Amino acid sequence: MPPDEDTAPPVRRRVVIGVSGASGAPYAERMMRFFAGPGRAAGIEAHVVFSKFGRLNWADEVGTDPASYGLPLYNPGDMTVPFASGSARFDAMCVVPCSAGQVGRIATGVSADLIGRAADVFLKERRPLVLVVRETPYSLILLRNMATLTEAGATVMSAAPSFYSQPKTIEALLDTVVARALDRMGIDNSLMKRWAGRDPSAGGPA
Ligand SMILES: Cc1cc2nc3c(=O)[nH]c(=O)nc-3n(C[C@H](O)[C@H](O)[C@H](O)COP(=O)(O)O)c2cc1C
Repeated sequence: MPPDEDTAPPVRRRVVIGVSGASGAPYAERMMRFFAGPGRAAGIEAHVVFSKFGRLNWADEVGTDPASYGLPLYNPGDMTVPFASGSARFDAMCVVPCSAGQVGRIATGVSADLIGRAADVFLKERRPLVLVVRETPYSLILLRNMATLTEAGATVMSAAPSFYSQPKTIEALLDTVVARALDRMGIDNSLMKRWAGRDPSAGGPA
C-alpha cells in the first residue's frame, strides 16, 4: 500500500525496474515487494516498467495486480518519462527477469521500448545497470551479447539461485538472486543469509 504522504520518508535515491517477458516474474515481484517496504523506508523510490510480454508472464507466474504495490508504473511505449533521459539522474536500474531478446536489443543500442531506452541511458551515463538474464541453455548470440554488455559496463547475472544459505522456501530461493541484484545496484539489503565461512561442525572432508 502507498504510505501516507505525511509519513513517507524523503526520497534519497530513485531506481528503475524493468520487467521483461522471460520466465521469472516472481523475481520481479520479490524486488517490487522489497522496494514497496524496506526500500521505501530507506528513502528509495522505485519506478517500474513492464514490457508487453513481461506483463503477460507476470499474469501467469504471479497473478497479482502490479498496481497494488504502490510503485509508479509506466507504459513500455512511453519515451517521455523522466528516466528516458540522462538529465533526470536516476541512480540504478535492474531488468528482472531480462529476456534474451532484451539483452540483444540493449547490446545493440536499439531503444525499441522504454526498458531498452532506459538501459541505454544508464549505460551512457555510466550508472549501475543490472540485467538478471533468464534463459537456458545460452546460444552463442546471447553469450556474445552478454559479453558486449559486460564490456559496456553493465552487470550481467543469471537468474540462478544459490543453495549455501539453505533456502527452505521458494521465496528464500528468490532472495538469493534478488539480494545479489540489489547488491550490484548498490542497495543495502538483508534478504539472504550471507556466507560467513564454513561451519566445521557440519562435517565433510577436512
Ligand atoms: C511462457 C513463456 C516463457 C518464456 N520464457 C523466456 C525466458 O525464460 N527467456 C527468454 O529470453 N524469453 C522467454 N520467453 C520469450 C519472450 O517472452 C519473448 O522473446 C518476448 O518477445 C520478450 O519480449 P520483451 O523482451 O520485450 O519482454 C518466454 C515466453 C513465454 C510465453
